[in-house]
Amino acid sequence: MKAVTWHGKRDVRVEEVPDPAIKEPNDAVIRITSTGICGSDLHLYEVLGPFMAEGDILGHEPMGVVEEVGPAIENIKPGDRVVIPFNISCGHCHMCDLQLYAQCETTQVREHGTGAAVYGYTKLYGQVPGGQAQYLRVPEAQFGPIKVPEGPPDERFLFLSDVLPTAWQAVADADLPEGGSVTVFGLGPIGQMCCRIARHLGYRVIGVDGVTQRLEMARRHGIEVIDASEVTDVPEEVRQRTSGRGTDSVIDAVGMEAHGSPAAKLAQTLTTMLPGAVAAPLMSHTGVDRLAALNQAIDTVGRGGVISVIGTYGGMTDPMPMLRMFDKGITMRMGQAHVRRWTSALMPLVTDESDPLGVMDLATHRMPLEQAPLAYEMFQKKSDGAVKILLQP
Ligand SMILES: NC(=O)c1ccc[n+]([C@@H]2O[C@H](COP(=O)([O-])OP(=O)(O)OC[C@H]3O[C@@H](n4cnc5c(N)ncnc54)[C@H](O)[C@@H]3O)[C@@H](O)[C@H]2O)c1
Ligand SMILES: [Zn+2]
Ligand SMILES: [Zn+2]
Repeated sequence: MKAVTWHGKRDVRVEEVPDPAIKEPNDAVIRITSTGICGSDLHLYEVLGPFMAEGDILGHEPMGVVEEVGPAIENIKPGDRVVIPFNISCGHCHMCDLQLYAQCETTQVREHGTGAAVYGYTKLYGQVPGGQAQYLRVPEAQFGPIKVPEGPPDERFLFLSDVLPTAWQAVADADLPEGGSVTVFGLGPIGQMCCRIARHLGYRVIGVDGVTQRLEMARRHGIEVIDASEVTDVPEEVRQRTSGRGTDSVIDAVGMEAHGSPAAKLAQTLTTMLPGAVAAPLMSHTGVDRLAALNQAIDTVGRGGVISVIGTYGGMTDPMPMLRMFDKGITMRMGQAHVRRWTSALMPLVTDESDPLGVMDLATHRMPLEQAPLAYEMFQKKSDGAVKILLQP
């Protein structure tokens, strides 16, 4: 089959690789019909190379049709239309019983001391072959796959794999008071959906980014925005719009590659130039995140407020402004989305014909799988108005 494989910094290719097969009784194999490129994939493309191996298959936002199931699988059958959550969880361990599916004890990657395995996401998350491919082997298929109805286009449902549950969790973690307000840093796909979900739930939302098309997309979904390419002091701008207090909560939907952190950017660049064997331990023990967005979040949030960090971070000794955080009495929540936890809240919204979250207006590009190298480049450079790109095998 054809698959998108990683070969180095800004070097992904489409190659012929062996077809996946059932290995365990609770596996399934899915034929992929649509598969997203995520901001998390951009971290692999740029800074997380030390944790990748040449030829790793990328991708963790797939959906498609069940081809084959192992003998232990009864919940899905060949021909079913399914969306695959990005994290692999068993559904019946201690962590899964607590609905902390991103920490599943059956798939935790103990060798690296990390949480549940993730498709196509570095050795730290199990080096599981990913879903930007024609076929995908799905372990723990008794729990993960989300059955969706026939009929509507893939885009109706695809975002149940990552973008929607991730954004839903970010808003839940923001723990907003009734009628409260939230600033969302970053208007990539995750930030867009954080804004729409928070607004749908009745909160005041201010979205921040510096990219014109992303600001425009937020605006057309009724979101108040701040253009970070024009406003130099974003936290002050938010305070001015909120009686001097800042918003009740802030969501960081930017992560480790924030614009505006020149020193950390240099450290990241130098680290990715080292051989993997040297760079991986260095990255695991030092602080190499670009913290501009997180620092702005700390500045922006009101006293006693909550910061929900949904953007991905990877440094181990990142410097934090503890005085300001302690003095303001900030609560911070973070982590990977427990995808399956939010399916039942989201399903009525994606099947509602009026499309309340506007899932049909998020993908800006649909490209054949063969064009993945171009798609990655466009998504990283945000060229041609790219906000979300879907690949079609
Ligand atoms: N926690 C999870 O489970 C989970 C799941 C999916 C994605 N993520 C993470 O969420 C983040 C966003 O993903 P995405 O797909 O939307 O990616 P993206 O790269 O398209 O979006 C990031 C946006 O942040 C903006 N930005 C950069 N610096 C900024 C700053 N200082 N202030 C305001 N905006 C700034 C960029 O212009 C861009 O639009 C990534 O870090 C990704 O890894 C986490
Ligand atoms: Zn993702
Ligand atoms: Zn589990």
